[in-house]
Amino acid sequence: MNVKNTGMDVYRIKGGKKLQGTIKVSGAKNSAVALIPASILADSPVTIEGLPEISDVYTLQALLEDVGGKVTFSDGEMVIDPTEIISMPLPNGNVKKLRASYYLMGAMLGRFKHAVIGLPGGCHLGPRPIDQHIKGFEALGAKVTNEHGAIYLRAKELRGAKIYLDVASVGATINIMLAAVRAKGQTTIENAAKEPEIIDVATLLSNMGANIKGAGTNVIRIEGVEKLHGTRHTIIPDRIEAGTFMIMAAAAGDGVTIENVIPFHVEALTAKLREMGVDIIEKDEKIIIPKTEELQSVDVKTLVYPGFPTDLQQPFSVLLTQTVGTSVITDTVYSARFKQIDELCRMNATGRVDGRTAIISGPTPLQAAIVRATDLRAGAALVLAGLMAEGITEVREIQHIERGYSSLIEKLQGLGAAIEKVTIQEEAISKD
Ligand code: EPU
Repeated sequence: MNVKNTGMDVYRIKGGKKLQGTIKVSGAKNSAVALIPASILADSPVTIEGLPEISDVYTLQALLEDVGGKVTFSDGEMVIDPTEIISMPLPNGNVKKLRASYYLMGAMLGRFKHAVIGLPGGCHLGPRPIDQHIKGFEALGAKVTNEHGAIYLRAKELRGAKIYLDVASVGATINIMLAAVRAKGQTTIENAAKEPEIIDVATLLSNMGANIKGAGTNVIRIEGVEKLHGTRHTIIPDRIEAGTFMIMAAAAGDGVTIENVIPFHVEALTAKLREMGVDIIEKDEKIIIPKTEELQSVDVKTLVYPGFPTDLQQPFSVLLTQTVGTSVITDTVYSARFKQIDELCRMNATGRVDGRTAIISGPTPLQAAIVRATDLRAGAALVLAGLMAEGITEVREIQHIERGYSSLIEKLQGLGAAIEKVTIQEEAISKD
């Protein structure tokens, strides 16, 4: 047995500095991870502008290259030449690194009528089945089997169909669109999800020559076409990143302007923050949040869009530690998305989880601690807690945060935060 030292990257945050200035939001992660696979359906190069520089985007780039795609990516602009892509099996490796690798199923099926893709990875937030995706592929004529942890999809041809989703799933709505745009005839998706990212993907596909109506409503109609061509597309801003900065500004700000945000996309959060006593000024593509004096407790229920997003519930829970009174968060989307609460309690927060509900009381001064980013948005929550806490907080397992937040350290430093990424030595025991 050998004891050896290996490096581990962590975020180190000295709390207490008030955030001030301007911060710019990047392109939407949850659009990016669908737009990149969508390009497989074209017969000439697709250019996507404004992509966030996050590990999920780099992983998808690698996956496209694994199947023969020619991809360049610099300054947020990705050029994807899909002409030489082949439907090679992708059972393992990179597909396990992110949830959105499931979009390769719809895109490969749409183009080649067959695909083999490993079951996806992603954050552990409770059960995350893909039964609605599979129901959609089967309705379009594919035979779908699960063999040794990989999904096999095979179709003689894809034919349009009427598909009613039991849950308004973002992933299933997009995946069925990807498979249906080149199917024969008309597909109708009923009880479709309405998130802005779905409109963004439909816009790209339409600019590639697809015929899609109703994206952004709960009924989407797609008339299949024989071919799709390359195009240039600019991604929408990330409403979850924008929302995270809004929460940070309300909790630890002294005048913060958030740029490159569509205020309409974050309305549920804006309404909740106003209810708590936060002043929010909306101007075209900017949101300004002046210093907040006292915050009132509120109850929050996460819902599908346009309801309060589950993805913001975790950072929002940190703000609730600073309110006067007791607040209740109910997550109706995921059954186990409260792992941040235990970590926050290490930092002196008063909170507990009961099933799908978290109960948080305040105001409580937070204290620095060594904490673990158990998943992407829990990581953002702990960064915020570190910004507010007395002392030096160390956030570990930051690979989760870097899957979804582009240049977070630099952006927060730009607001005056004392945050840095450092490599610490940890003792690892290996058996030789
Ligand atoms: N669901 C099913 N069956 C399915 C699909 C979903 O029962 O076939 C259930 C899920 O278990 C969940 C609910 O439906 O309870 C919503 O799931 P959805 O399919 O809408 O989520 P997703 O597509 O897996 C995307 C985002 C998530 C975000 C959710 C909800 C991507 C890559 N991920 O996930 O983003 O929380 O929509 O808005 O777009 C994040 O960014 O941190 C993140 C987790």
